[in-house]
Amino acid sequence: METVKAGGMVLPKLGLGTWRLKGEDCTTAVLGALDRGYRHIDTAQMYGNEDAVGAALAATAVPRGDIHLTTKVWWENLAPSAMRRAIDASLTALKTSYVDLYLIHWPAPGMDLAASLGELVRIKEEGLARNIGVSNFPVALVKQAVEQIGAPIVCNQVEYHVLLSQAPLLAYLRAKGIALTAYCPLAQGRLAEHPALDAIAARHGVSAAQVALKWLFDQDGVAAIPKAGRAVSQQANLDAFNLTLDDADRAAIAALPKDVRCVNPGFAPAWD
Ligand SMILES: NC(=O)c1ccc[n+]([C@@H]2O[C@H](COP(=O)([O-])OP(=O)(O)OC[C@H]3O[C@@H](n4cnc5c(N)ncnc54)[C@H](OP(=O)(O)O)[C@@H]3O)[C@@H](O)[C@H]2O)c1
Repeated sequence: METVKAGGMVLPKLGLGTWRLKGEDCTTAVLGALDRGYRHIDTAQMYGNEDAVGAALAATAVPRGDIHLTTKVWWENLAPSAMRRAIDASLTALKTSYVDLYLIHWPAPGMDLAASLGELVRIKEEGLARNIGVSNFPVALVKQAVEQIGAPIVCNQVEYHVLLSQAPLLAYLRAKGIALTAYCPLAQGRLAEHPALDAIAARHGVSAAQVALKWLFDQDGVAAIPKAGRAVSQQANLDAFNLTLDDADRAAIAALPKDVRCVNPGFAPAWD
Protein backbone atom coordinates (compact mmCIF):
# COMPACT_ATOMS: atom_id res chain seq x y z
CA MET A 1 0.00 0.00 0.00
CA GLU A 2 1.28 3.48 -0.88
CA THR A 3 1.83 5.73 2.13
CA VAL A 4 2.01 9.40 3.10
CA LYS A 5 5.00 10.29 5.25
CA ALA A 6 4.64 13.27 7.58
CA GLY A 7 6.89 13.88 10.56
CA GLY A 8 7.41 10.43 12.02
CA MET A 9 4.09 9.13 10.69
CA VAL A 10 3.75 6.64 7.84
CA LEU A 11 0.07 6.71 6.86
CA PRO A 12 -1.37 4.19 4.38
CA LYS A 13 -3.08 6.19 1.61
CA LEU A 14 -6.28 4.16 1.91
CA GLY A 15 -7.99 3.81 5.27
CA LEU A 16 -11.35 2.45 6.33
CA GLY A 17 -13.75 5.15 7.57
CA THR A 18 -16.12 3.84 10.25
CA TRP A 19 -18.59 6.67 10.93
CA ARG A 20 -22.12 5.21 11.24
CA LEU A 21 -20.81 1.63 11.48
CA LYS A 22 -21.85 0.22 14.85
CA GLY A 23 -21.60 -2.97 16.88
CA GLU A 24 -21.14 -6.27 15.06
CA ASP A 25 -21.48 -4.61 11.64
CA CYS A 26 -18.52 -2.41 12.51
CA THR A 27 -16.42 -5.28 13.88
CA THR A 28 -17.16 -7.37 10.78
CA ALA A 29 -16.31 -4.48 8.45
CA VAL A 30 -12.99 -3.78 10.19
CA LEU A 31 -12.05 -7.47 10.28
CA GLY A 32 -12.93 -7.83 6.60
CA ALA A 33 -10.90 -4.77 5.68
CA LEU A 34 -7.86 -6.03 7.60
CA ASP A 35 -8.20 -9.43 5.86
CA ARG A 36 -8.28 -7.66 2.48
CA GLY A 37 -5.09 -5.72 3.23
CA TYR A 38 -6.26 -2.46 4.77
CA ARG A 39 -3.81 -1.27 7.42
CA HIS A 40 -5.40 2.08 8.32
CA ILE A 41 -8.60 2.38 10.37
CA ASP A 42 -10.33 5.67 11.21
CA THR A 43 -12.64 6.02 14.19
CA ALA A 44 -13.58 8.69 16.76
CA GLN A 45 -14.87 9.01 20.28
CA MET A 46 -18.05 10.54 18.82
CA TYR A 47 -18.77 7.58 16.50
CA GLY A 48 -19.67 5.36 19.47
CA ASN A 49 -17.92 2.41 17.84
CA GLU A 50 -14.46 2.35 19.41
CA ASP A 51 -15.43 -0.77 21.35
CA ALA A 52 -16.48 -2.49 18.10
CA VAL A 53 -13.24 -1.42 16.38
CA GLY A 54 -11.36 -2.68 19.44
CA ALA A 55 -13.11 -6.05 19.17
CA ALA A 56 -11.80 -6.36 15.60
CA LEU A 57 -8.27 -5.36 16.66
CA ALA A 58 -8.41 -8.03 19.37
CA ALA A 59 -9.70 -10.71 17.00
CA THR A 60 -7.59 -10.11 13.89
CA ALA A 61 -4.44 -12.06 13.10
CA VAL A 62 -2.84 -8.83 11.82
CA PRO A 63 -0.30 -7.61 14.41
CA ARG A 64 -1.24 -4.36 16.16
CA GLY A 65 2.07 -2.86 15.07
CA ASP A 66 1.12 -3.26 11.40
CA ILE A 67 -2.11 -1.26 11.78
CA HIS A 68 -2.40 2.53 11.71
CA LEU A 69 -5.25 3.45 14.07
CA THR A 70 -6.66 6.98 14.21
CA THR A 71 -9.14 8.24 16.76
CA LYS A 72 -10.35 11.72 17.67
CA VAL A 73 -11.34 13.74 20.70
CA TRP A 74 -14.70 15.51 20.43
CA TRP A 75 -14.71 19.32 20.45
CA GLU A 76 -16.59 19.52 23.75
CA ASN A 77 -13.69 17.66 25.43
CA LEU A 78 -10.79 19.93 24.51
CA ALA A 79 -10.07 21.19 28.04
CA PRO A 80 -6.95 19.31 29.23
CA SER A 81 -8.72 17.31 31.97
CA ALA A 82 -11.56 16.34 29.62
CA MET A 83 -9.10 15.38 26.88
CA ARG A 84 -7.23 13.19 29.36
CA ARG A 85 -10.47 11.38 30.28
CA ALA A 86 -11.30 11.03 26.58
CA ILE A 87 -7.99 9.40 25.56
CA ASP A 88 -8.19 7.03 28.52
CA ALA A 89 -11.73 6.01 27.54
CA SER A 90 -10.77 5.64 23.87
CA LEU A 91 -7.79 3.40 24.64
CA THR A 92 -9.89 1.25 26.97
CA ALA A 93 -12.61 0.83 24.33
CA LEU A 94 -10.07 0.19 21.57
CA LYS A 95 -8.28 -2.38 23.77
CA THR A 96 -4.88 -0.99 22.89
CA SER A 97 -2.21 0.91 24.80
CA TYR A 98 -1.73 3.56 22.08
CA VAL A 99 -3.26 5.03 18.97
CA ASP A 100 -1.14 5.88 15.96
CA LEU A 101 -2.80 9.25 15.47
CA TYR A 102 -4.90 11.30 17.89
CA LEU A 103 -6.81 14.21 16.38
CA ILE A 104 -8.79 17.15 17.68
CA HIS A 105 -12.04 16.28 15.86
CA TRP A 106 -13.27 19.86 15.42
CA PRO A 107 -12.06 23.22 16.66
CA ALA A 108 -14.39 24.45 19.40
CA PRO A 109 -15.81 27.97 19.38
CA GLY A 110 -13.88 29.96 22.01
CA MET A 111 -11.39 27.18 22.70
CA ASP A 112 -7.99 27.71 24.32
CA LEU A 113 -6.05 26.17 21.44
CA ALA A 114 -2.66 26.44 23.16
CA ALA A 115 -3.95 24.57 26.23
CA SER A 116 -5.61 21.87 24.10
CA LEU A 117 -2.54 21.36 21.93
CA GLY A 118 -0.38 21.33 25.06
CA GLU A 119 -2.37 18.38 26.41
CA LEU A 120 -2.26 16.68 23.01
CA VAL A 121 1.55 16.98 23.07
CA ARG A 122 1.67 15.47 26.58
CA ILE A 123 -0.47 12.56 25.37
CA LYS A 124 2.08 12.00 22.59
CA GLU A 125 5.06 12.35 24.93
CA GLU A 126 3.54 9.73 27.24
CA GLY A 127 3.29 7.32 24.31
CA LEU A 128 -0.51 7.14 24.32
CA ALA A 129 -0.50 8.51 20.76
CA ARG A 130 2.37 7.96 18.34
CA ASN A 131 1.44 11.15 16.46
CA ILE A 132 -1.01 13.99 16.89
CA GLY A 133 -3.04 16.20 14.59
CA VAL A 134 -6.22 18.10 13.95
CA SER A 135 -9.37 17.81 11.89
CA ASN A 136 -11.61 20.42 10.30
CA PHE A 137 -8.97 23.12 10.82
CA PRO A 138 -8.98 25.85 8.14
CA VAL A 139 -5.66 27.42 7.10
CA ALA A 140 -5.72 30.21 9.71
CA LEU A 141 -6.15 27.76 12.59
CA VAL A 142 -3.47 25.36 11.31
CA LYS A 143 -1.14 28.35 11.00
CA GLN A 144 -1.89 29.32 14.60
CA ALA A 145 -1.25 25.76 15.78
CA VAL A 146 2.02 25.42 13.86
CA GLU A 147 3.52 28.91 13.72
CA GLN A 148 2.33 30.53 16.96
CA ILE A 149 1.99 27.53 19.26
CA GLY A 150 4.62 25.30 17.65
CA ALA A 151 2.57 22.11 17.97
CA PRO A 152 4.12 19.09 16.17
CA ILE A 153 0.97 18.16 14.26
CA VAL A 154 1.38 15.76 11.33
CA CYS A 155 -2.16 15.63 9.91
CA ASN A 156 -5.27 17.68 9.20
CA GLN A 157 -8.31 15.54 8.38
CA VAL A 158 -10.82 17.49 6.28
CA GLU A 159 -13.58 16.93 3.77
CA TYR A 160 -11.99 16.60 0.34
CA HIS A 161 -13.25 15.10 -2.90
CA VAL A 162 -13.63 15.91 -6.61
CA LEU A 163 -16.49 18.35 -5.83
CA LEU A 164 -14.72 20.35 -3.09
CA SER A 165 -11.50 22.33 -3.51
CA GLN A 166 -8.95 22.33 -0.72
CA ALA A 167 -6.23 23.97 -2.83
CA PRO A 168 -5.05 26.72 -0.40
CA LEU A 169 -5.15 24.37 2.60
CA LEU A 170 -3.33 21.58 0.74
CA ALA A 171 -0.62 24.00 -0.41
CA TYR A 172 -0.07 25.19 3.16
CA LEU A 173 -0.02 21.65 4.60
CA ARG A 174 2.45 20.49 1.94
CA ALA A 175 4.74 23.43 2.69
CA LYS A 176 4.74 22.40 6.36
CA GLY A 177 5.10 18.65 5.71
CA ILE A 178 1.65 17.90 7.17
CA ALA A 179 -0.56 15.15 5.70
CA LEU A 180 -4.12 15.82 4.51
CA THR A 181 -6.54 12.96 5.16
CA ALA A 182 -9.60 13.28 2.93
CA TYR A 183 -12.87 12.44 4.66
CA CYS A 184 -16.10 11.93 2.71
CA PRO A 185 -13.87 11.12 -0.30
CA LEU A 186 -16.98 9.81 -2.07
CA ALA A 187 -19.10 12.79 -0.97
CA GLN A 188 -20.99 10.38 1.31
CA GLY A 189 -21.72 7.98 -1.53
CA ARG A 190 -22.90 10.63 -4.02
CA LEU A 191 -19.86 9.95 -6.21
CA ALA A 192 -20.80 6.28 -6.69
CA GLU A 193 -22.83 7.62 -9.60
CA HIS A 194 -21.95 10.88 -11.30
CA PRO A 195 -22.18 11.68 -15.02
CA ALA A 196 -18.64 13.05 -15.50
CA LEU A 197 -17.05 10.35 -13.36
CA ASP A 198 -19.18 7.65 -15.02
CA ALA A 199 -17.83 8.74 -18.41
CA ILE A 200 -14.21 8.51 -17.21
CA ALA A 201 -14.93 5.22 -15.47
CA ALA A 202 -16.48 3.72 -18.62
CA ARG A 203 -13.32 4.49 -20.61
CA HIS A 204 -11.19 2.62 -18.06
CA GLY A 205 -13.63 -0.20 -17.24
CA VAL A 206 -13.84 0.83 -13.58
CA SER A 207 -16.43 2.54 -11.36
CA ALA A 208 -17.04 6.24 -10.68
CA ALA A 209 -16.09 5.71 -7.03
CA GLN A 210 -12.74 4.27 -8.08
CA VAL A 211 -12.08 7.30 -10.29
CA ALA A 212 -12.89 9.64 -7.38
CA LEU A 213 -10.54 7.78 -5.05
CA LYS A 214 -7.64 7.47 -7.51
CA TRP A 215 -7.82 11.23 -8.11
CA LEU A 216 -7.10 11.63 -4.37
CA PHE A 217 -4.47 8.87 -4.15
CA ASP A 218 -2.53 10.51 -7.01
CA GLN A 219 -1.98 13.66 -4.92
CA ASP A 220 1.18 14.07 -2.85
CA GLY A 221 0.53 14.19 0.87
CA VAL A 222 -3.10 13.03 0.59
CA ALA A 223 -4.71 9.91 2.13
CA ALA A 224 -8.41 8.99 1.92
CA ILE A 225 -10.72 7.12 4.30
CA PRO A 226 -13.86 6.00 2.43
CA LYS A 227 -16.40 4.30 4.65
CA ALA A 228 -17.17 0.92 3.12
CA GLY A 229 -19.40 -1.47 5.01
CA ARG A 230 -19.84 -3.82 2.08
CA ALA A 231 -17.04 -6.23 1.15
CA VAL A 232 -17.48 -5.34 -2.52
CA SER A 233 -16.90 -1.63 -1.77
CA GLN A 234 -13.85 -2.39 0.36
CA GLN A 235 -12.28 -4.42 -2.44
CA ALA A 236 -13.19 -1.88 -5.13
CA ASN A 237 -11.53 0.88 -3.11
CA LEU A 238 -8.31 -1.14 -2.80
CA ASP A 239 -8.42 -1.95 -6.51
CA ALA A 240 -8.64 1.78 -7.30
CA PHE A 241 -4.84 1.91 -6.90
CA ASN A 242 -4.53 -0.06 -10.18
CA LEU A 243 -6.27 2.65 -12.21
CA THR A 244 -4.21 5.15 -14.24
CA LEU A 245 -5.91 8.50 -14.83
CA ASP A 246 -4.70 10.51 -17.83
CA ASP A 247 -4.53 14.25 -18.52
CA ALA A 248 -7.99 14.29 -20.14
CA ASP A 249 -9.47 12.58 -17.06
CA ARG A 250 -7.80 15.09 -14.75
CA ALA A 251 -8.99 18.01 -16.89
CA ALA A 252 -12.58 16.73 -16.79
CA ILE A 253 -12.38 16.43 -12.99
CA ALA A 254 -10.79 19.89 -12.68
CA ALA A 255 -13.78 21.35 -14.55
CA LEU A 256 -16.31 20.05 -12.01
CA PRO A 257 -17.85 22.42 -9.44
CA LYS A 258 -15.65 22.59 -6.33
CA ASP A 259 -18.03 23.95 -3.70
CA VAL A 260 -20.01 20.90 -2.55
CA ARG A 261 -19.57 20.46 1.21
CA CYS A 262 -21.35 17.48 2.80
CA VAL A 263 -20.41 18.09 6.47
CA ASN A 264 -21.04 21.58 7.85
CA PRO A 265 -22.55 21.49 11.36
CA GLY A 266 -23.54 24.59 13.32
CA PHE A 267 -20.30 24.48 15.35
CA ALA A 268 -18.08 24.36 12.22
CA PRO A 269 -15.41 27.06 11.87
CA ALA A 270 -15.42 29.70 9.09
CA TRP A 271 -13.83 27.67 6.30
CA ASP A 272 -11.89 30.40 4.48
N1 LIG B 1 -13.19 14.29 10.81
C1 LIG B 1 -14.46 14.47 10.54
O1 LIG B 1 -15.10 15.44 10.99
C2 LIG B 1 -15.18 13.48 9.67
C3 LIG B 1 -16.42 13.82 9.11
C4 LIG B 1 -17.04 12.89 8.28
C5 LIG B 1 -16.42 11.67 8.03
N2 LIG B 1 -15.22 11.35 8.60
C6 LIG B 1 -14.54 10.05 8.35
O2 LIG B 1 -14.50 9.84 6.95
C7 LIG B 1 -15.11 8.59 6.65
C8 LIG B 1 -15.72 8.63 5.27
O3 LIG B 1 -16.74 9.61 5.15
P1 LIG B 1 -18.28 9.22 5.01
O4 LIG B 1 -18.51 7.89 5.63
O5 LIG B 1 -19.08 10.33 5.54
O6 LIG B 1 -18.53 9.22 3.43
P2 LIG B 1 -17.85 8.52 2.13
O7 LIG B 1 -16.74 7.65 2.54
O8 LIG B 1 -17.59 9.62 1.18
O9 LIG B 1 -19.05 7.66 1.54
C9 LIG B 1 -19.49 6.47 2.17
C10 LIG B 1 -20.55 5.83 1.29
O10 LIG B 1 -19.96 5.43 0.05
C11 LIG B 1 -20.26 4.07 -0.19
N3 LIG B 1 -19.13 3.45 -0.88
C12 LIG B 1 -17.88 3.20 -0.40
N4 LIG B 1 -17.11 2.65 -1.33
C13 LIG B 1 -17.87 2.53 -2.43
C14 LIG B 1 -17.64 2.02 -3.73
N5 LIG B 1 -16.44 1.53 -4.10
N6 LIG B 1 -18.67 2.04 -4.63
C15 LIG B 1 -19.88 2.56 -4.28
N7 LIG B 1 -20.16 3.05 -3.08
C16 LIG B 1 -19.16 3.04 -2.16
C17 LIG B 1 -20.50 3.43 1.17
O11 LIG B 1 -21.34 2.31 0.99
P3 LIG B 1 -21.23 0.93 1.84
O12 LIG B 1 -20.78 1.31 3.23
O13 LIG B 1 -22.59 0.39 1.77
O14 LIG B 1 -20.22 0.05 1.19
C18 LIG B 1 -21.16 4.58 1.90
O15 LIG B 1 -22.55 4.63 1.63
C19 LIG B 1 -16.11 8.40 7.80
O16 LIG B 1 -16.56 7.06 7.89
C20 LIG B 1 -15.27 8.86 8.96
O17 LIG B 1 -14.36 7.84 9.35
C21 LIG B 1 -14.58 12.26 9.40
